[in-house]
Amino acid sequence: MEKRVCVTGAGGFLASWVVKLLLSKGYTVHGTVRDPNDEKYSHLNKLDGASENLKLFKADLLDYDSLESAIQGCSGVLHVACPVPPSSVPNPEVEILEPALKGTLNVLKACSQAKVKRVVYVSSVASVMMNPNQPDGQVWDETCWSDKEYCKSTGNWYCYSKTEAESAAFEYGKQNGLDVVSVCPSLILGPILQSTLNSSTLVLVKLVKGTYIHLVQGGEDSVPNRVRYIIDVRDAAEAIITAYEEHKAEGRYICTAHAIKTRDLAEKLGGLYPEFTYPKNYSETSVHEGNLSSERLQKLGWTYRPLEETLVDSIESYREAALLD
Ligand SMILES: NC(=O)c1ccc[n+]([C@@H]2O[C@H](COP(=O)([O-])OP(=O)(O)OC[C@H]3O[C@@H](n4cnc5c(N)ncnc54)[C@H](OP(=O)(O)O)[C@@H]3O)[C@@H](O)[C@H]2O)c1
Repeated sequence: MEKRVCVTGAGGFLASWVVKLLLSKGYTVHGTVRDPNDEKYSHLNKLDGASENLKLFKADLLDYDSLESAIQGCSGVLHVACPVPPSSVPNPEVEILEPALKGTLNVLKACSQAKVKRVVYVSSVASVMMNPNQPDGQVWDETCWSDKEYCKSTGNWYCYSKTEAESAAFEYGKQNGLDVVSVCPSLILGPILQSTLNSSTLVLVKLVKGTYIHLVQGGEDSVPNRVRYIIDVRDAAEAIITAYEEHKAEGRYICTAHAIKTRDLAEKLGGLYPEFTYPKNYSETSVHEGNLSSERLQKLGWTYRPLEETLVDSIESYREAALLD
């Protein structure tokens, strides 16, 4: 495939790594950002190859014309942008649903207009796992979808938006002859390129600062000891590029590597970094758990790194960005 692609939300945690990897593979990248003059995107222009091969476009997901300009001339689009709030938001309709749903359809329409050959939609395991009817212990694979009504009734607007947007993307592709492939990552950790905190990075920062507890709604004084499914940001970025480049890729790809309970994760970190303050009290949760499988992605040749490498590289990058002070 031709080597000119557009990455939406280029300045975000995951997208910055996608841009970095694309540049290292010789791609010309059109990166969309909401305000190219904002200092928070300055890391992008410092990436190797950026001065020759990265062009930033001012675009908002709700502004179709801005997307059309950014996507024009590209043979592929990696649609990464989406609001990822760290907790509940006052107006989910405006803050999450509109950019996720209308925004994705705007991107897809602009792709049709520009005759893009393939779109990779970055979804989430939030569109796979949020289903109370899935039996405990089941392997969650690409046939599993979150239950939209359940997401709505429990106020899980992010899960609802990812499920709705991913299914709408496939439906759009089918109706309009656009090749749409999705990648569904689990919790993404790993080194940050940007200088600001994103939601998943905040999970690890709070765990090592002993303030993780504040993420728990209702002010409970213990941390739910639930299973965390973790993927390194660099491996998630590779997965997105694999899904774009592999001719035989089609449908959905779950992207995860390690399943670990929160207490075990804190203990592992404590072995590596005893100087931090970790939560002391944990409560067992009734949330049903299963096994997430990335077998489909691995069959495309994708691999992932050990959890220790992800944790060490994360913590070192947070230190460098002064996020642990
Ligand atoms: N992090 C995870 O654990 C995780 C797990 C599974 C899936 N994902 C998915 O991965 C993708 C990236 O997540 P991330 O963790 O990298 O989040 P992030 O750092 O918060 O990045 C999100 C990006 O979306 C952009 N964005 C949000 N609303 C927009 C709008 N209306 N118009 C244009 N751009 C908009 C943001 O732009 P601004 O910089 O201008 O705000 C930002 O660049 C998302 O699709 C998310 O659902 C993430």
